[in-house]
Amino acid sequence: MLVSPLSLYKKARKGGYAIGAFNTSNVEITKAIIETAEKLNSPVIIETSEGEAEHQGLDVVAAEVKALAKDAKIPIVLHLDHGKSFESIGNAIRSGYTSVHIDGSEYNVKENTKITRAVVELAHNNGVAVEGEIGHVAGASSQHKAEIAIETKDLTSPEEAAEFAKKTKIDTLAVAIGNIHGIYLQPPKLDFERFGEITAKVKKYFSLHGGSGIPKNQIQKAISMGVVKVNVNTELRLAFKEGILHEFDIHPDEAVPYKYLPAGAEAVSKVVEGKIKLFGSEGKA
Ligand code: G3H
Ligand code: ZN
Repeated sequence: MLVSPLSLYKKARKGGYAIGAFNTSNVEITKAIIETAEKLNSPVIIETSEGEAEHQGLDVVAAEVKALAKDAKIPIVLHLDHGKSFESIGNAIRSGYTSVHIDGSEYNVKENTKITRAVVELAHNNGVAVEGEIGHVAGASSQHKAEIAIETKDLTSPEEAAEFAKKTKIDTLAVAIGNIHGIYLQPPKLDFERFGEITAKVKKYFSLHGGSGIPKNQIQKAISMGVVKVNVNTELRLAFKEGILHEFDIHPDEAVPYKYLPAGAEAVSKVVEGKIKLFGSEGKA
């Protein structure tokens, strides 16, 4: 069934595990994520960025996920990832998304607080949960050949986060604690001291963006400290591509999409299975 994430986060926090939030660009990936979560009896979050939603059609994704969720035995959340404007948040809510992320991290704190507060009001009036972001998780969801320097000014300040959470009334806070979008040559090093200060001051649920390429022990530590949602995109994108490329190595003349696309979906399933087990949500549906 399609659900709000809040009761799932509550259970996850109590149980010391996190729920995977997996990005999707097409129906093959969406089905692979849901089927894998069902096999493992795990709750799951299907998420689309604005670009991923635009590619598929926001209403199409919503209709598709609602149809898949109707027959599923696990709770499924449909989440807008990195919504940048009030308009795109409104569209997602109208389409039936049960959770939205307003990413105002490119604005100054005052503007970020203002837009996030307005989104919370709209979303909560419609029974939709809200994730806000303070600090900025940099990078993009792909494999990068160069290094990226994380600037201290982009990291979440515990004091600002406390103020932001209080004023906006968000449900979940996306933190920037050394995590970054995409996979780089050097894995990130999360700043757990900072995260500890944030969790001491902010009584909200926490999400960790940039889940691809973060070493397993750091993911587990972040979850043990209160992260209940981990976003994963790049590793799924790479798996889908590699799976299909490999299929074309074996059957170079295959032209029937429903015959070669399953190879991409299978590769995605393997990644999702590994993440669900790592996040500890297996058997928690
Ligand atoms: O919002 C999406 C995620 O933060 C994905 O990050 O591409 O590094 O897995 P990732
Ligand atoms: Zn993200």
